[in-house]
Amino acid sequence: MLLQIQSRATKKLAIRLFSHRLLSTSFLAGKRCLITGGSRGIGQAIAFKLAAEGASCILLSRTLSMALSAASLLDTSLGQEHEAVQLDVASTRRVWDANDLGGTDPASIDIVVNAAGMAQSKLLCFMSPEEIEDIVFTNLMGTIYSCRTFARPMMRSKKEKCIINISSVLSLRAGRGSAVYAACKGGIEGLTKALATEMGSKHVRVNAIRPGLIDTDMLSSSVSSEAQMEFLKRIPANRTGSAEEVADAALFLIKNRYCNGTILTLDGGFSVSL
Ligand SMILES: NC(=O)c1ccc[n+]([C@@H]2O[C@H](COP(=O)([O-])OP(=O)(O)OC[C@H]3O[C@@H](n4cnc5c(N)ncnc54)[C@H](OP(=O)(O)O)[C@@H]3O)[C@@H](O)[C@H]2O)c1
Repeated sequence: MLLQIQSRATKKLAIRLFSHRLLSTSFLAGKRCLITGGSRGIGQAIAFKLAAEGASCILLSRTLSMALSAASLLDTSLGQEHEAVQLDVASTRRVWDANDLGGTDPASIDIVVNAAGMAQSKLLCFMSPEEIEDIVFTNLMGTIYSCRTFARPMMRSKKEKCIINISSVLSLRAGRGSAVYAACKGGIEGLTKALATEMGSKHVRVNAIRPGLIDTDMLSSSVSSEAQMEFLKRIPANRTGSAEEVADAALFLIKNRYCNGTILTLDGGFSVSL
């Protein structure tokens, strides 16, 4: 008798765990996500996370081979398919169409993550107009055109959709050699909040993540190890963040349907410390 009760309880638990696993690993099943800068770093980590939740991902970057290899590593266990598209977000300077997106209709996209970006490590007074424009067109205009591309089809679809932009803690606490980058990231935050109000009533949520020092190619190529050591002293967590931690934040913003216009700081306490 006891054995029977135990086995019934175990069965119930097993069913609960199984359905929880099924739900928790497939809440994005059937969703199509487009991730700019999806070939490396933060964008790639977000793509990993979304694919593991069942989403189909389209990874965008300038280097097709890198995007293809990142796409080949994504979870396909629920039958989801992934694509890689070569697009330089800085060079289009207009709204993207299906040709820019490798034949993908912008209306088919449910979630957009704008993670393509480039760093700056030069004082403004030494920068050429071309260098300044490269940073502005990659970080800010690329994000604006991406949002503009998906805004109308997303609002027209009458389905729940969302956009996540990647800002930076340098929008709050800028340092030497980051003037243009910081201006772009401040712009991205303004864009995010304005779009949250423009699109929120049409079932489209727009949020942003404001990462601190994250361990990616961008960090190693733009901040010397000495400067990183100095930076670390000012981070209460006493370490850099990982791209996966940023991806967890992205998942939270996608899952939480009351998040709109949220700028989620993820910097180990850097921006709130004296
Ligand atoms: N790492 C940090 O500490 C940190 C902190 C705060 C915010 N962020 C922000 O997080 C985002 C991702 O940075 P990350 O650290 O992951 O950098 P990353 O490792 O250098 O990756 C950058 C990604 O963007 C793509 N990309 C760059 N320029 C592009 C362009 N013009 N068109 C299309 N794709 C482009 C790159 O691929 P291709 O080179 O092949 O184009 C790559 O996939 C950026 O917006 C960055 O500003 C990073």
